[in-house]
Parts: sequence; structure tokens; C-alpha cells
Amino acid sequence: MSWYDKAIIYQIYPKSFQDTNNDGIGDLQGIIKHLDYIKDMGFNTIWLNPIFVSPQVDNGYDVSNYFAIDPILGDTNDFSEMIEKAHRLGLHIILDLPINHTSDQHPWFRDAISNSNSIFKDYYIWHDQVDGHEPNNWGSFFGGSVWEKNPNDSKEYYFHLFDKRMPDLNWKNPEVQKSVADIAKFWLEKGVDGFRLDAFIHIAKANLEQNSLLTDQKFPIDDTFYAKLPAVKDYMSGFVKEIKAFKPDAFLFGEAASAKARDAAEYTRPNENVCDVVVNSDNFGEEYETDPDIPKFFQSRKLSLDTLKQTYVTWESVLEKVSLPTLTWGNHDISRVLDRLNLPVENDKVTELLAMMLFLQRGIPVIYYGEEIGMHGLKYKNISDFDDQRALDLINNLRSKSFDDQKILQLLNNQDEMTARGPMQWDTSQYRGFSKKRPWNWAQTDTTSVNQEIKDPNSVMMFYRELLRVKKHECFTSGTYRLLITDPKIYAYLRRTDHNQGLVVINFSDQSKTFELPKGDWSDNLSNEKIQMNDKILKLGPWGCCALESKS
Ligand code: GLC
Ligand code: CA
Repeated sequence: MSWYDKAIIYQIYPKSFQDTNNDGIGDLQGIIKHLDYIKDMGFNTIWLNPIFVSPQVDNGYDVSNYFAIDPILGDTNDFSEMIEKAHRLGLHIILDLPINHTSDQHPWFRDAISNSNSIFKDYYIWHDQVDGHEPNNWGSFFGGSVWEKNPNDSKEYYFHLFDKRMPDLNWKNPEVQKSVADIAKFWLEKGVDGFRLDAFIHIAKANLEQNSLLTDQKFPIDDTFYAKLPAVKDYMSGFVKEIKAFKPDAFLFGEAASAKARDAAEYTRPNENVCDVVVNSDNFGEEYETDPDIPKFFQSRKLSLDTLKQTYVTWESVLEKVSLPTLTWGNHDISRVLDRLNLPVENDKVTELLAMMLFLQRGIPVIYYGEEIGMHGLKYKNISDFDDQRALDLINNLRSKSFDDQKILQLLNNQDEMTARGPMQWDTSQYRGFSKKRPWNWAQTDTTSVNQEIKDPNSVMMFYRELLRVKKHECFTSGTYRLLITDPKIYAYLRRTDHNQGLVVINFSDQSKTFELPKGDWSDNLSNEKIQMNDKILKLGPWGCCALESKS
């Protein structure tokens, strides 16, 4: 067993957590200030979104220098202080490492385009123009083509899956693999405990001369050619072997947005040197409205308990003998869970139930900052407040289809990722205790805050704290998982070890429900209401949930 088999991860978006020098941007000193809070809440691991030097085209995912901290966040001394204090408190820190691409301002890329003998040319992916245009029709995740002209040679293009200012690295080149391993080792030496490997499923590309047959757009996004190709595992293994030889317990947490359970198993098989766990981004049991005019990302959706049960039972079963699933309601790439799933979340019981149903399953909880106080996303006033590329594309697209601006604003406020990147709400002051200056990302917020939640024993925050305490019980950390067949509106599962067993029962409805208890000498651990129970029957009120334990 490694330390990370018991990880409970808190995801921090550094620019939005706490500003200590009042420039409106969160910083490392802000994180240091709240390490005690994180520890007290019961987290034991922190994942920081990228903190390296970056032009901030994509909020740090475009790195121009991997060996230093971005000056807006702090410097090497702040970093050492953060690691030292975190470790003193028993917290692990993992850094987000963009490995699929660099910034176009990175010295490797600058040299590759300006020096005809550059040894870094082969660090990137190039192709000559074909009949005077892009080498193929593949679409970028951020809109348009994956190809952009070499600014110093108009007949040649470079490849970028994301923004055109983020050229993809050529992982076929062993020098690239080695250089990225050197970056990882540099930070491991400075004390970090592992990495989130950003977008790793995209590091291998198909034959660049192949065109996509999808015809929905001029440059269709077609994963076939640049996601989960077999070479991903080959490229990763050399790199990962080097990291693990250097620090065997370095935790590698891979981002595999489009992974299904079987892909996750493929990438986390022990001793194959890819990842320890992977996290994907569509395990939320969502059912979409099907308005063909609206791109899927922005469509209204609701949580379907049936889909969710199906998803959980699949992931838990496929990964059972392989690795730990990751358990998450969201991250910086989608709107916050309380805004996204059309649930009656004005009722705190619903927020608490969502947490319990997910995090007590077998796996590693990954909780996005603010979720633990029931924070909603930012609500912007005007569509002109949105300036990320995906939002701009949506606005153009829907205006051309005569949608009115209010409707577009509503879709953006419910689904756009920028709404989820607002300041952490520490108190009720003007900028919520985040800063004295207007935050870099700011709009209307809700009124919840750490200061208020901490005083109220019935708050969402106190429920999360108790829940993470319960999660550390042996049955909820390492027990097996079994879904129980129940009333369709109930979600119930058993977690079992040789010594004891845990039972979670969730009433996913606004009606009271009864539930027949399996054999056991059940005692109540945590619930979001006063539960009624005898040795056979458990009664739950609307949106009630509870976690019980018994000897096996
Ligand atoms: C990942 C990140 C996302 C970023 C992208 C490119 O998907 O989570 O925020 O834009 O990679 O690095
Ligand atoms: Ca600051």
C-alpha cells in the first residue's frame, strides 16, 4: 500500500484561492495561510493547478519556463515554505504538469522557429502545407484547425491541440521524453509528492496525412486521431520509469478526460508504468437536453440516478483488482456541481447527499475548492463578461441562430468553466475575504462563506468535515464495493473488509422511503437528518442519507 491509496485530494486553483498582496490574484502565500484549514477539514493531499512561469493564455497550462514559479503567484522561497509547512502538517502536494504542449514563448519553441539548425525543431510536430493549406482537417479542442503556420516559414505548419499559442510536443522524440522527466525530477527533488499529468492521453497522434470523415464542421474535433492511441503507453512508460526510479512513491494522477472505465484500467495496471490513478470528466450521471442547436458542452442537463448507478457499478467493477477510481463532482474545466445538475440544491440536504453518495465509495475523493462550503459558481451580468474562446464561439454560433442574449447568458452561467474559477469565499466582505482588490475573475457570488459555515454545526462544511472523518474508517477506505438492488430512487452500497462493513443509503427523492437493512449490527455514523432505524428497517426522509457501520 502506498500513501496515495488513502489520499483525499483538495484541488486548489491558485489564482482564485487567497490573495495576500492585494493585486487581485491568488498566490502561494495565500495557500500557505490556509494549510491549517485544509488539514482541519480532513484533506491529506493538495493538487495545485499549474504554478510555473506562463504567459497565462490558458491560466498556466501554457508554460514558458518549467523550472520557476510564475511571479504572479510567488517565488522559489514561497514554494519551499509551502512544501515545508504542508509536510509538517502531514499534507502531500502534487503539481499539475502540462506534458502535451508548451507555450509558444518557451525557449524550445522560440529556438525551433528562429534557428534553422535548432536541435529543438524536433521537439514539436511539423508538416508542410498540402495544396496551399493545412495538412489535414483535424479540429483543435479550442476551436479551428490544429495547424498554425510557422511564423517564420509560411509553407510549414506546427500542430496544436489546444490554443495556437500552445504547440504540442513531439513525444515520438526520446529527447522530449527525457526533458519532461528532467522537469519532473527537478520538482521531486524540491519535495513535491507527485503530479497531475495534464492531457496525457493526447501525447500520441495518428498519421498526420489522414483526414477525418466527420463533416459537422470544417475542422471537426475527432478523438480518433489524437486521443488514447496505443503509442500513449509506449511514450509514457520510459518517462514514468525514470520518475519512479527516482522516487518510487511519487503519485502519478493522470488526466484522461474522455476515458471510459476500461481505458482507466489500461492506464493504471500496476507495474506498467503509466499512471497510478486516472481522472476522467464525465462520471456525473448526466442526461442532456437534446437541442441540436446547442453544442453539448453548454446543454442543460440533469442528474439521472439510473445512469449514475450504472456508471459507478461499471467503474467500481472494472477497476476492482486494478487501481482506485477517482471520485469527483467537478474541476476547473466545468461549472460547479451545484449549478450544473438541475437539483433542488437550495436544500443543503441535497448538497450533503451528493457528497456522501460519491466519496464513501471505493476510491480517491477529489474535491474542488469551495465545494466543501457548498459554493456556487460566479453569475455574470452580461455575455460580454465572458472572454474565453469556448464562450466566444458559443455566443457567435447562437447569435447566428437568433438565440436571444438572455438565453445565451443563462447557458453560459450554468455551464461555462470560468464560472467555476471564482474566488474562494472566506467571509462576507466585499470580495469575500479573498482580496481587498477586485479579483481577476469576478461577478455575483452566493453568500456562503467559511467564516459562517464554521460557526454552524449543521452547515455543509461541518458535514464535509465529518464525512472525511468517516471516509478514513477502514471499511470506507479499503473495503470492497457492492451495489445493493433497491427501490429505483434509493442508492445503497456496501463496503466490506474482513473485520467490518460500511453501508451507505441515499434517498434520492423528495418522498420519505423505507429501506430493508442487510444483516448486521448497524450503528449510525453520519447522516444529514435524524434517522429512524430498528434492526430491520431504516426510514429516510426526503433527500435523506446515512452511513452505517457494523462488524462483518
Ligand atoms: C486540461 C486542463 C485544461 C487545459 C487543457 C490544456 O484539460 O484541465 O484546463 O485547458 O488541459 O492544457
Ligand atoms: Ca496576489
